Amino acid sequence: MTTRFPIDWEAEADFVVIGGGVAGLTAARTASLRGLRVLTLSKGGPTDTSTQYAQGGIAVVAPDGDSVESHVHDTVEAGVGLCDVDAVRSIVEGGQAALDALTDLGAVFDLGRDGRISRTREGGHSTRRIIHAGGDATGAEVQRALNEADLPVLFGTTVGEISTGPNGVQGVVAVSDQGFGVVHAPAVLLATGGLGRLYALSTNPPGATADGIALGLWAGAVVADLEFVQFHPTVLYTPGGIGRRPLISEAVRGEGAILVDTEGDSVTDGLHPRGDLAPRDVVSRAIAARMRALGTDHVYLDARAIDGFRQRFPTITASCLAAGIDPGTDLIPVAPAAHYQCGGLVTDTHGRTGVAGLYAAGEVARTGLHGANRLASNSLLEGLVVGERAGAAAVERLGVPATVTAVGARVTEYADRDAVQQLMTTHASVVRDGAGLDEALKRLDDVATTRETCSAPATAVAAIEDAALTLAARTLLLAAAARTESRGCHTRSDHPDQVTALRHSLPIRLNSEGVPEHAPVTP
Ligand code: FAD
Ligand code: SIN
Repeated sequence: MTTRFPIDWEAEADFVVIGGGVAGLTAARTASLRGLRVLTLSKGGPTDTSTQYAQGGIAVVAPDGDSVESHVHDTVEAGVGLCDVDAVRSIVEGGQAALDALTDLGAVFDLGRDGRISRTREGGHSTRRIIHAGGDATGAEVQRALNEADLPVLFGTTVGEISTGPNGVQGVVAVSDQGFGVVHAPAVLLATGGLGRLYALSTNPPGATADGIALGLWAGAVVADLEFVQFHPTVLYTPGGIGRRPLISEAVRGEGAILVDTEGDSVTDGLHPRGDLAPRDVVSRAIAARMRALGTDHVYLDARAIDGFRQRFPTITASCLAAGIDPGTDLIPVAPAAHYQCGGLVTDTHGRTGVAGLYAAGEVARTGLHGANRLASNSLLEGLVVGERAGAAAVERLGVPATVTAVGARVTEYADRDAVQQLMTTHASVVRDGAGLDEALKRLDDVATTRETCSAPATAVAAIEDAALTLAARTLLLAAAARTESRGCHTRSDHPDQVTALRHSLPIRLNSEGVPEHAPVTP
C-alpha cells in the first residue's frame, strides 16, 4: 500500500456503510440479513444525525381516502418538473413495506382515538398521510429502533477518502481516535446526510458538512440538483441565534397554526390555494419577501388555537419554553433556515451511482424523488426505501477482489468554514441572483487555498469537513449560476420565470484537475 501517512489500523468487510442515520442503518441491517459482513462507520455518536431531529413524520400512503397516484401527484407537483416520475412511483410504492419493517423492528407510531395509526398533514400534501411518533419526535423513534438493532458501528470514525481501482471501489480511508485506518471492501454506501452546515443558520446538526458529496465527487460520481436547497419556512427565531436552530414542524400548521407578519397580517393570503400549507418553497419565499418589505428578520406562527399543543408537540414546546416563549399564549417568532439538500449524488432507486461498487442513499443521494423541491416527510421515506434496496444491491459485489492500494494522494482545496457559511448565506439563500453567485465564486477563490490531504489525525476531521464544504459550495454555486430561471426552491431575482429549456437536471462531475464542471445531460 502506498501511503502519505502512517496507517494505524486495518479491517476488511464485504460492505462498508458510511453513516448511522436512517439510510445507513437500514442498508446495514438489510445487507447483514443477507449474509454480508457489514461495517458501519459514523463520524458522530449514535444520535448525531439529522434523522434524530426529524419532527413531522414519514409520508406513507394512507389506507383510506389516499392512493399511490395521489402521493405521486403531490410529490411531482412539489418537484416542479424535475422529478423522475418512475423513481417517485417506485419509492412511494415502497412506503408501506418500509413502515412494516420499521414496526417489526420495534418502532412505535402514534395512534388515533380509533386505535389506528394517526396521520397528520404537511405542506404540499393533499391529504393527511404523515405518520408520526412521540407527537413531534418521529426521527428520534426511528433512530432509537435502528440503533437498538445492534449493528456493528464504529462511532467517532470519519471517512476522508474512497479508494477505487480497475474493479471499482476498493475500500475507504478513515480517521478515529485510533489514528488513520483503512477498510478494504468492494462495496461502499454513502449515507452521510446533507449539507445544511454550508449556511450560518440551519436545522441540521453540526456533522451535516456535505462530506458525502465530496467523497462521491472525488471517487468519480456525478451530482445533480444541488442548487435546490430547501429552506424550511418556520425555524425558531431568536435574536443573534447561530448554528443549529430548533425547527417548528410544518405539522404545527397542519394542525391549524397560521403565519402572520409583525403587523398581524397573513403572510400567504392569496398566494396559493393551499395557503399556509403550500409547498415549502412558496411559503419560504413569501416569508422572505414579507421580511424584506417590513424590514424585519422574522414573522410569527400563531398556534394559540391548537388544543393540547404541549401533548401533541412536546419537543417544540420544550424548544420554545427554553427561548422564553409559551406557544399556548405567545406568538412564536420564526424565519426560514437551510434545512434539506434536494439534490445529491446521482443514483438509481437501488442507490447505485455510476462508479462500480459505490452506492448512495438518503439525503446525500439524488434518486429523482424530490426534483426541484422535496415534499415534506418524503425524506425519511426515501431513506428507508432506498436504504433497504441499496443494502440488498450490495450483494452484487460479493467476491469482487478489493484491496486499498494508495492512500492520501489527493491535493484538495480548503477554505475557512465561517467564510464559506457567510458567503453562501449572503449569496445563495432563499433568493439569489447572477451577480451575487459570481461574487460568491470569486470570494471563494480568494479565501480557498490548495494543499495536500491532511496528514495528522488530530486535525483530520476538521480538514475533511472544510474540504467537503468548500467543494460543495463551489459545486452548488456552479449549478445555481447555470440555472438561469426560478424553479422550486431555486429562486433567481434576475430570472423570475421558469424556462422550459431548463426543465432538466444539470449534472456536475470533477474534471481531471479536480474542479467541478458540467457533465453531459443524459436524455
Ligand atoms: P443522517 O441521518 O443525517 O445521518 C448521516 C450520518 O452520516 C451520521 O451518522 C453522520 O455522523 C455520518 N457521517 C457524515 N459524514 C461522515 C463521514 N465523513 N464519515 C463517517 N460518517 C459520516 N424528513 C422527513 O421525512 N420527515 C421529517 O419530519 C423531517 N424532519 C426534519 C427535521 C429536522 C430538524 C431535520 C434536520 C431534518 C428533517 N427531515 C425530515 C429530513 C430528514 O431527517 C433527513 O433528510 C434524514 O434523516 C437524513 O437521513 P440520512 O440517513 O441520509 O442522514
Ligand atoms: C417538519 O416537520 O416540518 C419537517 C418535515 C420534513 O422536513 O420533511
